[in-house]
Amino acid sequence: MKLWVVEDYQAMSRRAADVLAREIKRKPDSVLGLATGGTPVGMYQELVRMHREEGLDFSRVTSFNLDEYVGLPAAHPQSYRTYMEENLFAKVNIDPRMTHIPRGDAPDLEAECARYEREIARAGGIDIQVLGIGRNGHIGFNEPGSTAATATRVVQLTRDTVEANARYFDSPDEVPTQAISMGIRTILAAKRILLLASGSSKAEAVQRMLEGELTPELPASFLRQHADVTVVMDRQAASRLPAATIAGTAAD
Ligand code: PGA
Repeated sequence: MKLWVVEDYQAMSRRAADVLAREIKRKPDSVLGLATGGTPVGMYQELVRMHREEGLDFSRVTSFNLDEYVGLPAAHPQSYRTYMEENLFAKVNIDPRMTHIPRGDAPDLEAECARYEREIARAGGIDIQVLGIGRNGHIGFNEPGSTAATATRVVQLTRDTVEANARYFDSPDEVPTQAISMGIRTILAAKRILLLASGSSKAEAVQRMLEGELTPELPASFLRQHADVTVVMDRQAASRLPAATIAGTAAD
């Protein structure tokens, strides 16, 4: 794993956007795996700026998002489709037909999961997958207990995750308790992985990901099995790592 510890959220966002922009320039028809949540918002802002000011071209890019809430139609204000439209898709020149997010309101959820896996395969696989990390070490919505063999499927969200997501909803009762999520196997099949972490609430999960045992109890630990992972984290997220680990990274 390549570790980058940078000063703060802004620096993390710029560095992450830079990695993606380089990938898109290297391969204009890149297949991007995208993430939602609070962490990548600044990265998307920077990508939008690069599109507007520097002409970063998304016209041939394909995207697959990690997950979507079960039960929310695409147009729901808190759906991940809406998040992606507001943060990126509507602000750059990506072809809407090339953007993929599981349908949380599909009548047959099993069939939707299988279809999603087929679509990723048909696109030639994911070139670079962006990930956040949950306080409980989840990646996508692969909660503790998820094995490395999991594919895209319907998952039950843990109480911790529901609580963490409640800030986006009017009341805790409205927060969906299930989601469709790419599996860990799906994520590990990406050619490259870019994980972002910001803030002290992620410090323990980051430490266990890098230094704990490889275990379904900390799904992010399976990333150590992948040959090309870059972690960009700010100082707070890195605060539980030994000084020697941090000293070896390119500080910003
Ligand atoms: P966050 O979520 O970016 O909103 O902290 C990350 C995650 O749960 O994967």
